Amino acid sequence: MDEYGPRYFELNTGAMMPSVGFGTWRAPPDVIGDAVVAAVMAGYRHIDCASAYGNENEVGDALQRLFSTGKVKRSDLWITSKLWCSDHSPCDVPKALSKTLQALKLDYIDLYLMHWPIRTKPGSHRFEEGAILPLCIPETWNAMEGLYASGQARAIGVCNFSTKKLQDLLSFAKVPPAVNQVECHPVWQQTHLGNFCQSTGVHLSAFSPLGSPGSWMKGEVLKEPVLIEIAEELHKSPAQVALRWGIQSGHSVLPKSTNESRIKENIDLFSWCIPPDAFSRFAEIQQTRLLRGEFAVHPDGPYKSLEELWDGEI
Ligand SMILES: NC(=O)c1ccc[n+]([C@@H]2O[C@H](COP(=O)([O-])OP(=O)(O)OC[C@H]3O[C@@H](n4cnc5c(N)ncnc54)[C@H](OP(=O)(O)O)[C@@H]3O)[C@@H](O)[C@H]2O)c1
Ligand SMILES: *[C@@H]1O[C@H](CO)[C@@H](O)[C@H](O)[C@H]1NC(C)=O
Ligand SMILES: *[C@@H]1O[C@H](CO)[C@@H](O)[C@H](O)[C@H]1NC(C)=O
Repeated sequence: MDEYGPRYFELNTGAMMPSVGFGTWRAPPDVIGDAVVAAVMAGYRHIDCASAYGNENEVGDALQRLFSTGKVKRSDLWITSKLWCSDHSPCDVPKALSKTLQALKLDYIDLYLMHWPIRTKPGSHRFEEGAILPLCIPETWNAMEGLYASGQARAIGVCNFSTKKLQDLLSFAKVPPAVNQVECHPVWQQTHLGNFCQSTGVHLSAFSPLGSPGSWMKGEVLKEPVLIEIAEELHKSPAQVALRWGIQSGHSVLPKSTNESRIKENIDLFSWCIPPDAFSRFAEIQQTRLLRGEFAVHPDGPYKSLEELWDGEI
């Protein structure tokens, strides 16, 4: 079989991160375990977790099941998790990672990300009135650097950072972020941020690479006519073409599914590619950000408008 890569992207730490990660957001605790096992058996070697998804304990149980069968070893897998907004205080950062490692039953994480450029009151779960605190990204990042130095997090990064926020972070970071995980798919291609990431050696990882159909984000990415046409021409599904577009654009992609046939479909991306003439037609697709983050905007919080949250990239 022909091999159309890349199966891995090299990070600025030198580590090789598998280009397809299994997404775990909105996967209910009672089905996530079987889904993780099915994903690893189907060839996924990268799992995208977060404390905020409420299912790390079940993901950890599934990893134990996989390790005990001897099908994979810890070192074969790439596991990502994320620091929730209420744990941004420098003294809470190592505690949050310890909790995640305990839930996942691991002694290190391959990549630890700040989930949002937003800090909330310790113990809060949402962005309710009064929960959003002034930012302290330099202090939080310094604590993340401590986790990197300790080896408990083998790489550190951020999520949802605009070009400007990433530029600010790069200006004071002693350890530059390895990854910026952001919404990215054919209907929100992030060309400007992607170019900035590439020029600064920060890898862009794509969440909601299928546009999150079925969630409150109401993504219609898989119904995009250009995508459907190209999928028909290549005899692939629209989901596969959306994912392959991400990989060919240099992004890792994190599709979520709890349906075994889609889990397999979403990693069947390496025996074919989108030819250049079809690839260039993605430029015709009208661009819309799906995850706008209205809930993070408050008159007395650090972001008083969407414009400020995304620094104009909206
Ligand atoms: N860092 C962040 O801030 C952030 C934010 C959002 C998401 N994420 C990460 O990115 C992952 C993916 O994002 P997401 O869950 O929003 O959306 P997504 O992967 O774009 O879409 C998932 C949805 O698509 C369906 N689906 C999966 N494969 C399909 C296929 N081949 N054909 C048709 N439908 C398909 C799934 O349903 P079934 O399960 O029924 O197949 C599910 O409803 C998350 O799970 C999470 O790990 C990170
Ligand atoms: C699983 O996915 C397949 C292929 O997309 C679909 O035909 C089937 O109906 C799905 N099953 C469930 C239970 O959603
Ligand atoms: C940032 O990313 C997370 C996904 O982990 C998402 O849930 C959140 O809503 C995003 N924030 C914004 C403002 O889009």
